[in-house]
Amino acid sequence: MNTINILAIESSCDETSAAIIQQGKVLSNHIATQKVHERYGGVVPEMASRAHMQNIIPVVDLAIKDANIAVEDITAVAFTQAPGLIGSLLVGSCFAKSFAQARNLPLIAVHHMQAHVLAHFIDAQPPFPFLCLTVSGGHTQIVLCKDYLDMEILGETIDDAAGEAFDKVAKMLGLPYPGGPLVDKYAQQGDPLKFKFSMSEMKELDFSFSGVKTSILYFLQREKKNDPDFVEKNLVDICASAQYTIISMLMAKLKKAAKLHSINHVGIAGGVSANSGLRTALKEAGEKYGWTTYIPKFEYCTDNAAMIGITGYHKYLKGQFTDLSVSPTARAKWD
Ligand code: KG4
Ligand code: ZN
Repeated sequence: MNTINILAIESSCDETSAAIIQQGKVLSNHIATQKVHERYGGVVPEMASRAHMQNIIPVVDLAIKDANIAVEDITAVAFTQAPGLIGSLLVGSCFAKSFAQARNLPLIAVHHMQAHVLAHFIDAQPPFPFLCLTVSGGHTQIVLCKDYLDMEILGETIDDAAGEAFDKVAKMLGLPYPGGPLVDKYAQQGDPLKFKFSMSEMKELDFSFSGVKTSILYFLQREKKNDPDFVEKNLVDICASAQYTIISMLMAKLKKAAKLHSINHVGIAGGVSANSGLRTALKEAGEKYGWTTYIPKFEYCTDNAAMIGITGYHKYLKGQFTDLSVSPTARAKWD
């Protein structure tokens, strides 16, 4: 069989990324981040689409050159079809479709959340069944991965995503967007048990983060009335306590899922898996419950095209192609 070289495109939110995956191995993975959103405190969809349009050709060009292959060597094109911001998805999917049509290549539609799970298989080979907690700015899911393309969502958030909760806490504290990494940074110097915030109790394996957010908001409003400098004086302890609350909620459900399904290969994925507290909590749970734990390399945790490429590779092996009539979808379940 000829060498399989997949050009992968990711454009679901505010990162334009392109990668070349050869026989399941990453040859290149380039990401253009969009700084334009920082001053607005969140991703502005229209601006994201425009930035994708500016970035996509240079990023793809860089990925092909860096992989040291010729355009003629590409055997298939994989792209993020769902979920995400519709304008952003449209840029990536239109590019992928045009490229595939121009070069007469097979096209592979990839689900972004499935790709976050398969990011674990870029550098490692967790055995199946494998349990993945995917925590990003838009999603929070516990996924039972029975095979590369056979996954089941065991639980998910019914409102805010974990990353969104981190970002909203940061915003309340006057920190710039995206605030998750800053909350993490300050939390490392603070006392996680200094302040107590209420945790929502969801049934089964689902999550809800809107209650924690409100609890922190009311707490800050109350304290600031007594002392306008409360946040400045207590920043590290507020961050540590908020982070502790969010992580406790995530870990409680992950442990429950692992026990319920008797799984001892457990990983975290998505942007929030960069969080130092969550990484430590996973490691500690691993030691306590005898799990083998997995965290992808940082560049494969946040949005990237390499994870789209690895998913595309497994779809290629199964002959799961799509035709040019495919459209992106903002929200979509896995097939
Ligand atoms: O997976 P990702 O790059 O994009 C989405 O698909 O959403 O995740 C981005 C999210 C943001 O909410 C960001 O604040 C959060 O991940 N994040 C963190 C950390 N690094 C990124 N949250 C907490 N601690 C971190 N160290
Ligand atoms: Zn993502």
